[in-house]
Amino acid sequence: MTEYTSILVETHGRVGLIRLNRPEALNALNTALIQELMAALEAFDADNDIGAMVVTGSEKAFAAGADIKEMAEASAKEMHARDHIAPFDRILKIRKPVIAAVSGWCLGGGNELALSCDMLVAADTARFGQPEINLGVIPGAGGTQRLTRAVGKPVAMEMVLNNRTLTAQEALAYGLANRVVPVERCLEEALALAEEIAGRAPLAVQAAKRMVNQAFQAFLAEGLAEERRTFYDLFDTLDQKEGMRAFMEKRKPEWKGE
Ligand code: CAA
Repeated sequence: MTEYTSILVETHGRVGLIRLNRPEALNALNTALIQELMAALEAFDADNDIGAMVVTGSEKAFAAGADIKEMAEASAKEMHARDHIAPFDRILKIRKPVIAAVSGWCLGGGNELALSCDMLVAADTARFGQPEINLGVIPGAGGTQRLTRAVGKPVAMEMVLNNRTLTAQEALAYGLANRVVPVERCLEEALALAEEIAGRAPLAVQAAKRMVNQAFQAFLAEGLAEERRTFYDLFDTLDQKEGMRAFMEKRKPEWKGE
């Protein structure tokens, strides 16, 4: 099996399990982690013995967002050139169902990753948010687009503009999560759900996933491209530099509006 450094990969019957594994950074999604995650999903997708996948983090964090330290000093030009969000698109090509098992922090790019999965089992400890506004930027991987479709405009506005965090029960009520379970049962429930689906007619499951996604796709693509451009463009503002430096220096940012 491929050697990974930022994820752990296991199989449970016909289910492929991927654990995000950067505990020192609350599973912040750096380039290596994203590449490994996508490669592992693609490997399971190509494996006839696997019918569904589960992606999970730790009890403390599913993922605390994109890696701030990796991008804090980049210019807009560098961000456009790096296009580090592009690998996120690979999850859209996965044919088999992917279930997110979410405990603890599920923030920024972490929430966007969870939203890119097909179903979500939340632990009662899960907290969902898009805190990019605290860094002087906006979500860049679907947080304004998929989130709005999931929870509706008023709640999405509050989350994206004012860093409102949702509890697991709120996420369930607003349509972000399929179910909420005690934290110690979160992974077990997600694996059981995945195993149940993995036992169904494979071609019909894949066709069903494709068609449910089709309900959004046509409108989504344009919105996602515009969102990504806008996110990168904000790296030419002083507020983005201030926001990310303040995070790393563990202080409150001072906004200049420029
Ligand atoms: N990027 C890089 N490092 C991160 C990180 C991130 N997103 N989130 C946490 N870390 C690091 C911290 O810097 C810290 O490292 P050090 O020990 O070296 O200082 C370590 O993980 C533990 O974090 P904290 O000490 O902050 O843990 P806490 O329990 O006090 O707080 C938290 C937890 C509230 C989740 C806090 O870590 C936090 O606010 N993280 C940032 C969340 C965020 O802003 N996410 C959005 C990122 S931008 C994005 O995702 C853009 C996009 O759309 C693609």
